[in-house]
Amino acid sequence: MSAAHSKGTWMAESHDHVSCQEVVELVTEYLDGALTGERASLFEQHLNFCDGCFTFIEQIRTTAELGGRVTGIAVELARPEEIGPALAEVGDVDHLVLAAIDRDENSVRDYDLKRATYLVTMKLLGYTQVVHTLVGRLHDDSSIVLFGGLAMHRPYRGSTTVTTVNGGISALARTMAIELAPIRVNAVHPGIVGDSPFWSQKGEPALKPVRERTPTGRNVAMRDVVGAVDFLLTNRSVNGTNLHVDGGWLLL
Ligand SMILES: NC(=O)c1ccc[n+]([C@@H]2O[C@H](COP(=O)([O-])OP(=O)(O)OC[C@H]3O[C@@H](n4cnc5c(N)ncnc54)[C@H](OP(=O)(O)O)[C@@H]3O)[C@@H](O)[C@H]2O)c1
Repeated sequence: MSAAHSKGTWMAESHDHVSCQEVVELVTEYLDGALTGERASLFEQHLNFCDGCFTFIEQIRTTAELGGRVTGIAVELARPEEIGPALAEVGDVDHLVLAAIDRDENSVRDYDLKRATYLVTMKLLGYTQVVHTLVGRLHDDSSIVLFGGLAMHRPYRGSTTVTTVNGGISALARTMAIELAPIRVNAVHPGIVGDSPFWSQKGEPALKPVRERTPTGRNVAMRDVVGAVDFLLTNRSVNGTNLHVDGGWLLL
């Protein structure tokens, strides 16, 4: 086989490979076990190298497994007063993950107060109001994970509000771990997640410099963040922590 992988994109050098497009086309066949022989082997080789396609397959597999057991509820976190009524039908809660973000590009000199207010309300007041609303439905072994991000320690131009709210999330995790005890509360702080929709569309000009500054030599992938959240939700003694998922990016 002759093919080269370049961070999320499978670049073919011969016909003896499975491309990202073919992964999308063959996903049902693959998950049904109908893909066999060399084609199945090439398909799996592709998944071993392509974070984007690996994540895609995992999402489809999980969706298929969950079929019929999932209910969606639309909640506008930037209108905290609506959260209680919106969650009225939710029953007992084992685990709660708060991950929403609206990317506000803002600076102190050129401050857009309306956009800043929206994000601060959504991420700090909205997250807190969700926990306030559901706390009576959690039990002693329940756990909560809040999403922050490493812009809190490594700001970039335009990150004023994002940096501020992510810093707030780290404080929120600590105070909630005390207030809600014995319910555990932790925060996860990803670095730049290369295969997330926001960053993958920026492509190599944005991702390469981050990779070069990361000791692992890789961009963080969504599956790394999912693994970290699973760990925080299930480990019985991890509490009040702010876990960085950045491949060591902040060390350099
Ligand atoms: N991606 C990264 O590299 C990165 C890095 C550091 C930290 N993080 C953190 O990781 C978390 C997930 O990031 P992501 O990249 O997956 O984000 P994303 O792809 O932009 O998705 C954001 C989600 O938030 C929801 N949302 C936006 N505004 C909302 C509101 N007012 N009320 C309720 N939901 C709202 C969106 O819902 P709709 O789809 O309905 O709009 C969407 O599902 C965020 O907390 C982010 O700060 C991400």
